[in-house]
Amino acid sequence: MRSLINISDFSVAEIDELIACAHEMIAHPEKYQDSAKNKILATLFYEPSTRTRLSFEAAMYGLGGHVISVPSASNSSATKGETIADTLAVMSNYADIVAMRHPHDGAALVATNAAHVPVINAGDGGHFHPTQTLADMLTIEREFGRLENLTIVAVGDLLYGRTVHSLLHAMMRYPGNRFIMVSPEELRLPRDFVAHVQLAGIDIIETTSLTSALPHADVIYMTRVQQERFDDPHEYERLKGAYELDAQTMTHASDTSIVMHPLPRVGEIAPDIDSDPRARYFEQTYNGKMMRMALIHRLLREAAEASQSQTRHEISESQETKFYRCSNPRCVTKYERGLALRIRGAEPQCTYCDYPVTVI
Ligand code: NCD
Repeated sequence: MRSLINISDFSVAEIDELIACAHEMIAHPEKYQDSAKNKILATLFYEPSTRTRLSFEAAMYGLGGHVISVPSASNSSATKGETIADTLAVMSNYADIVAMRHPHDGAALVATNAAHVPVINAGDGGHFHPTQTLADMLTIEREFGRLENLTIVAVGDLLYGRTVHSLLHAMMRYPGNRFIMVSPEELRLPRDFVAHVQLAGIDIIETTSLTSALPHADVIYMTRVQQERFDDPHEYERLKGAYELDAQTMTHASDTSIVMHPLPRVGEIAPDIDSDPRARYFEQTYNGKMMRMALIHRLLREAAEASQSQTRHEISESQETKFYRCSNPRCVTKYERGLALRIRGAEPQCTYCDYPVTVI
């Protein structure tokens, strides 16, 4: 069963097909208005969300389908201690497809392994957010007519910002893209991630200076400091106002650049930028709905085609498996009971959240 946990689950060719499908849906929505008829999407959001949940729901209605949903995390059985795996096993009997958001890194993989229907990761902790990336990619493609040879300046909380992690994973697979990562020292990208990008021969620069990065940008990707991932509230208070884009700062950026933000913004972009012709953050939300339509359409079609042949993200047994402890305190392995914590060979990374592990 095909799911979307990480943007790398889709090849470049498949992402390009999703973008082409979204264009087709924008041009001819009536052709798709019954494509998910009698199908049910379950939205399981264990973290606050306004636009992402409603975007999934609007997408499903746009395809003629139905939606079931828990009103909020506090109303769900998770508060009684139910595991993610049990919840997804049950949901598979109610819905044809599930979109899940969860505060723990790696929760989406747990869900996928337990479900019998496609699961879409709508954000797992500070790890990944692949459907935001699909929204971002359609926005970039509609603007520049391409997804390659672009300079992307990502700004803000690059440590916990899952939207940047997924965007980087996706855009580094298109040739000629360059990345300038602007953050306070404390909120730099995870070190292993930077090493992985550099190893792939990608041009990536890290800096604390927004104004020095702006003149190079095609895409200025602003992000919020992720308050909910901080253990120390004082640390959040100290870092939250690190970067603000306003009319004055934007004089450093070129006329052909665009400003993006996954939203919600909490001070990273001054309201005076809303009337700047380079602002694209509200278009991003429309593009997100269209890409989620294209994604749901595709996953339902593939599920129908391959209903017998299971190609789940199995964690396969092997003679050389080793058990491990993950170094990430927010990893789902710290919370979910009964998970397979095995790595194969010498690969010292957590299967669920990609952090370094200690083999035990
Ligand atoms: C983002 C998220 O949830 O990661 N928002 C979204 O999906 N619209 C970004 C954020 O919350 O800062």
